[in-house]
Amino acid sequence: MLEKMNDFFNRRVDSYEEHQLNVIEGAREFYPYTASCLPMQDGAEVLDLGCGTGLELGFYFENNPTARITGIDLAADMLDALKHKFSGKGLTTICGSYFDIPFEKECYDAIVSIESLHHFTQEKKTSLYKKVFQALKQDGYFILTDYFAGTDEQECFYRQELLRLKSEQGICDDEFYHYDTPLTKEHELQSLKEAGFSFVDILSEWGATATIKAMK
Ligand SMILES: C[S@@+](CC[C@H](N)C(=O)[O-])C[C@H]1O[C@@H](n2cnc3c(N)ncnc32)[C@H](O)[C@@H]1O
Repeated sequence: MLEKMNDFFNRRVDSYEEHQLNVIEGAREFYPYTASCLPMQDGAEVLDLGCGTGLELGFYFENNPTARITGIDLAADMLDALKHKFSGKGLTTICGSYFDIPFEKECYDAIVSIESLHHFTQEKKTSLYKKVFQALKQDGYFILTDYFAGTDEQECFYRQELLRLKSEQGICDDEFYHYDTPLTKEHELQSLKEAGFSFVDILSEWGATATIKAMK
């Protein structure tokens, strides 16, 4: 049965980090790697899209204890766990969808997202990436670590499967349901370029997961 996105993560908050680190290929490497790509200057302003319990932020605060993070997530229980872990740190949380929440313009040194955006279509992502582009300072950048479909056929298959499951279960609202529909890396890069990013590159890969950097 499909579950609404926030319910899915709220229900699994207690086992979330263990699952993430032990089940996803490369996770023990890509979390610290992604954190190492984030800005090191004092008081760096970073926006984390779909921050969850902040696996990436633990590594980042070790590298840069003075960073100032804004974390957005749909799941209130994930955010509660995050706040508990990092009380005393420069952390602001917003409970809601990064598609709906307005971002302040030219505000962030970097924006990061890990393992959150593989649920959405290319069209939705392009409009989100336009917002991301505008929210970055002039020399800011976006770091995306996520997993990707291997082929166009796979990308199409997951999307069709989600539509089939929704129709089978009589779901006709536009809410987010937890079902992975990753894009190919080619489509992800295309989306970022369409949003205005001048330089887009794959920095590293672990199985199906890759880290992409997009410079403003
Ligand atoms: C797999 S977790 C990743 C959490 C964290 N970044 C990490 O890698 O450990 C995906 C997170 O994205 C959040 N999420 C999914 N869609 C979202 C949306 N539209 N807006 C905000 N958060 C979203 C979920 O609630 C969940 O906490």
